[in-house]
Amino acid sequence: MAGKIPQDFIDDLIARADIAEVVGRRVQLKKAGREFKACCPFHDEKTPSFTVSPAKGFYHCFGCGAHGTAIGFLMEYDHMSFVEAIESLAGSLGVDVPRDESDRPARRYDELFSLLDNVDKYWRGQLREHSIASEYLQQRGIDGETARRFGIGFAPDGWSNVLDKFGKTPEAIERLLATGLIIRKDNGQHYDRFRERITFPIRDQRGRCIGFGGRAIGDGEPKYLNSPETVLFHKGKELYGLFEARQALRHIDQLVVVEGYMDVVALARNGIDFATATLGTATTAEHLNRLFRITDNVVFCFDGDRAGKAAAWRALENALPQIREGRQIRFVFLPDGHDPDSYVGERGADAFVAAIESGLALSDYLIGELAGQVDMDTVDGKARLAELARPLLNRIPPGVYHELLVDSLAAAVGLGAARLGKMLQSQAGHDPASAQPASGRSSPARTSLKNGQPSVVRRAITLLLNEPHAADNLDIEKLAGVSRPGIDLLQDLIETVQAEPNITTAGLLERWRHHEQGRHLGKLAAVEMPESEEFDAAGELSACLDQLALAGRKERIEFLIEKQKLNPLTDEEKSELRHIV
Ligand code: UTP
Ligand code: MN
Repeated sequence: MAGKIPQDFIDDLIARADIAEVVGRRVQLKKAGREFKACCPFHDEKTPSFTVSPAKGFYHCFGCGAHGTAIGFLMEYDHMSFVEAIESLAGSLGVDVPRDESDRPARRYDELFSLLDNVDKYWRGQLREHSIASEYLQQRGIDGETARRFGIGFAPDGWSNVLDKFGKTPEAIERLLATGLIIRKDNGQHYDRFRERITFPIRDQRGRCIGFGGRAIGDGEPKYLNSPETVLFHKGKELYGLFEARQALRHIDQLVVVEGYMDVVALARNGIDFATATLGTATTAEHLNRLFRITDNVVFCFDGDRAGKAAAWRALENALPQIREGRQIRFVFLPDGHDPDSYVGERGADAFVAAIESGLALSDYLIGELAGQVDMDTVDGKARLAELARPLLNRIPPGVYHELLVDSLAAAVGLGAARLGKMLQSQAGHDPASAQPASGRSSPARTSLKNGQPSVVRRAITLLLNEPHAADNLDIEKLAGVSRPGIDLLQDLIETVQAEPNITTAGLLERWRHHEQGRHLGKLAAVEMPESEEFDAAGELSACLDQLALAGRKERIEFLIEKQKLNPLTDEEKSELRHIV
């Protein structure tokens, strides 16, 4: 089999290809300012709404929403495959498409796995050598046996412990970079990513370490640091603790999805071995696929705060397409200020199991949330409820469950199922929410989008896509600990731009071609930026980051203050509060 086409080559090809020429050879284009216009080749129209932007390397139709890069255009217009489109573009530029023969995936991956394994062992050893680390775990109620089961370790203080021990040759350094264990500075030097942190190895289905989570033991910021996306580690796919759960249990009746590493570990410490956590990201469709391959019974247990509610809603949205007869999906919200770790610590395992068992069924949660957003006493309110429910119902496969949900909704609104069914249908076809994935869907956390007011994250992503180099000098650390829908994507985009100084809008879109979130990027890349000289994309982008950092800090303060009312803060939290206020 031919090797993979290197990403660098695709970036470069996309940067060099003249999209106006590629499209212009097939469609008659007219110059309009910095761009070109034409009647859209993908739908029938009389007035041109199809635009090609050579600067962005991108085309977009304001009529039908078609958009893409030069590669995408060839795929759509000439019905080429991805590889054929690349070969065609390369051919027109007179270059050959290289294949990564040297980089045969199998061998390279084995080396990366073994490196991660060695670093994992080294850190476990360090845990025994550093009493501050073992005392920290003890203070958090984690005993030696649980720590061993999860392979918890300690990355000691220092900028080059791992670098010095495992990076003795240039190839070894490349491997450290590829696994995200070290970071390259602008001047070409390197330093350890994980310093003075408790380490949690993240294992794949076969138990191989693919990355780490690291918790600061002091006041270090951010509180948790994760390995970045690498060839082995994809946050949107992996679930922390799943391997350990399968080791511990012969048969898994149910899985509880929690938010944090410590939640999984603390639950296991208390005999609850069926918990797993997403890795600081939303629950994706891929996560759900994995969960449902193991069990039919999935419970989401999130914190009772606002971030927890937003996370639960995201999980619900992604779970809808996977609803089947026989599957059970429930939602549990712990009392405000609690997470599974604190809850099980304070009230014990039985109380936690009881909380899980009294979780809300998906249908009840969905209806309750929507009903809370409208005035159920008015006809308008009921119509609005139907409008909110429609895109969600549309994501559920037709079948018994779908019908049951319509029935429950009808009962909740006080309408006959037939009448509600009509209401649901009458709106079909002109619902902006369903036409616009993710961003347009109703969600407690994203109501601002519904009012046409883009979220800050969305604005930042839009700016960055349009002017990638506005992100060159951003300080990504500012976003540490900020949780917002889309923030991971924003962080990944910034990291990519900073690592690839020549990347264009189209290059970014190509990088995200195969990502779930990539589908939405095209729309944002099509947003027009002001042409004025004064428009300062870098300044605006940096202001967005400041705004996010500030909002993140505010939420954290509010959270700590609220928590204080219920429970005394830990020393750590007190000092955090002193630091951020
Ligand atoms: P939480 O902030 O809820 O922390 O983050 P926690 O799990 O209760 O941790 P402890 O008890 O203070 O140790 C939940 C999860 O969100 C991700 C991590 O995956 C964490 O486990 N997270 C959090 C980050 O990735 N970075 C952060 O700075 C904070
Ligand atoms: Mn916690």
